[in-house]
Amino acid sequence: MKMRKILVLLLAGLLIFGLLTGCAGPKDAGKIVMGTNADFPPFEFRNEQNEVDGFDVDIAKAIAEALGKELVIEDMAFDGLIAALKTKKIDMVVAGMTITEERSEEVNFSDPPYYDAGQTVVVKADNQEIKGVEDLDGKLIAVQLGTTGDFEAHDLFPAEKIRQFNQVNEAFLELGNNRVDAIIIDIPVADRYIELKGGFKTVGGKFTEEFFGIAIHKDNKELLEQVNKVMKELRESGKYDELLLKWFN
Ligand code: ARG
Repeated sequence: MKMRKILVLLLAGLLIFGLLTGCAGPKDAGKIVMGTNADFPPFEFRNEQNEVDGFDVDIAKAIAEALGKELVIEDMAFDGLIAALKTKKIDMVVAGMTITEERSEEVNFSDPPYYDAGQTVVVKADNQEIKGVEDLDGKLIAVQLGTTGDFEAHDLFPAEKIRQFNQVNEAFLELGNNRVDAIIIDIPVADRYIELKGGFKTVGGKFTEEFFGIAIHKDNKELLEQVNKVMKELRESGKYDELLLKWFN
């Protein structure tokens, strides 16, 4: 009798604890939480209604739909995404994230990659001097913190020449105001930003080869398999090509 009472109390306590803590968190079976940094058009950005929208969002929606779950989007600093995944605040990172060896030690990536990209150099439209990454010696370079653009810049140039920003938008503001000479960033995003803002150009094409994956916690093999399966179905059904057309033309 006593034991049962204790058990009931314990269960009630657990229930209340659960309700108070992570309702919208990944522990909620009805939801799937995508972490992203919504300043990376056309992969993810804030639309006119201030909702997070883009190619990655449509992919995440298709995944959520296939799993019969509601998609929740957490918009945060790009630099914090892997930590958020490792502490299970989010279920997956869909953020134009490049598959790298270092990251693969910490998280799993969906396979095969869902997009091919690479880094490029952005300068002001009237810049005649910088024609590619080889002309950046001694120049001030802006990057988004924790991105492969940031890592490339640090591989090639001294740290004091590199300005790191949490948002891509800030890097473009700095370049627009002549406080830096160039930005190193993923080529599809550079192209879209330039289209939207004007006054900038890319030079030299892409100088790295990169592939994007959806990052998932190492423990969550089940979700990894599900995501790979949904992505395969998206490709086979033509839905994936439809999304490419929708966002990259
Ligand atoms: N592809 C680069 C990387 O993985 C940049 C990604 C930035 N993504 C974003 N949503 N801001 O490091």
